[in-house]
Amino acid sequence: MKTQIKEHARLQWINLDTDLPAIDDGSDVIESLTQTPKTLSCRYLYDDRGSELFEQITDLPEYYPTRTEQVILDTYVSEIIELTGACELVELGSGSSRKTHTLLTAYSQLDNPLHYYPIDVSAGILRTTALNLLDSYPLLNVCGVAGTYERALANLPPRIIENRMLMFLGSTMGNLDDRDRDIFLTQVKQALQPGEFFLLGVDLQKPIGILEAAYNDAQGVTAAFNLNALQHLNDRFDGNFDLDNFAHLAFFNPTASQIEMHLKSLTDRTVKLKALDLEISFKPGETIHTEISRKFHLPTLEDTLTAHGFPPLKIWTDAQSWFGLILCQSQ
Ligand code: SAH
Ligand code: AVI
Repeated sequence: MKTQIKEHARLQWINLDTDLPAIDDGSDVIESLTQTPKTLSCRYLYDDRGSELFEQITDLPEYYPTRTEQVILDTYVSEIIELTGACELVELGSGSSRKTHTLLTAYSQLDNPLHYYPIDVSAGILRTTALNLLDSYPLLNVCGVAGTYERALANLPPRIIENRMLMFLGSTMGNLDDRDRDIFLTQVKQALQPGEFFLLGVDLQKPIGILEAAYNDAQGVTAAFNLNALQHLNDRFDGNFDLDNFAHLAFFNPTASQIEMHLKSLTDRTVKLKALDLEISFKPGETIHTEISRKFHLPTLEDTLTAHGFPPLKIWTDAQSWFGLILCQSQ
């Protein structure tokens, strides 16, 4: 696979959208916005602004997942490295890699130079993060992979050391529906050799009031994050969505055990995405479903992971059992 010109001696860069034949042509947007009810892949929540807003969300008083997972990582990192031994770290949907510092610090005590492969569809935050990490860790090697994790998993760079851990933190797996989660876990299994590791962070079931507050924060940052998906479509496909014409909705669906985020059209409107030659009509009150965020039941998830060839080796939770961190070993 082609890699781009080196801008730092310890940085390699793979851009799946330019190194492989392009597939991101907006056909998924046409399909999902012309069906009833309308939907949009949650990856459109993430462009430079979306990633910046997500970072703000992680600091909100109502948004407990990030700080809870950080407490678990801080408490149990030495157990994690004892179980895996030295390994290279591949992180899916790495974003700012903020919590990953805990693991990078611990693993770099075992293995220097350490190899880290952050993978993210939001290329701007991936690049800034990679450069910051190189400054913080003088012996770290970073190979950033810009693209969807679905595509990255099928095109991972070859191993430098013979032990790899794939990491999927922040409960990002909760943003996949059952079908996509099964496809994803099958791909993770194929990407790992027997005996290698998968570290998964998952948000757990808890009282509905806590869940709904986390996605309807008082400062309106989550609303701005949700609405930004429309700005992203405008920028990417020469569109004319008027963000003032849509309202953020987030609620818990107990049947599916998931938070759902939607954007509700406030008026009767037709929107154009010129680059896709697409006109979309909205009735007042009509919604676009932009995200699910599944809240997991640990025993059920353990069964799912085992069925995919990843029996959990160890599961850690916080004192309230709000969040789980699962270390699996590939069979
Ligand atoms: N892992 C970080 C960030 C979670 S936010 C944390 O725990 O805080 C989810 C991240 O996944 C974002 O950075 C987003 O850009 C990325 N992402 C979303 N969909 C993606 C996809 N299909 N492929 C690759 N990255 C994706
Ligand atoms: C990245 N993902 C796990 C977040 C979540 O909680 O589902 C995204 C998010 N959506 C709204 N707030 C945060």
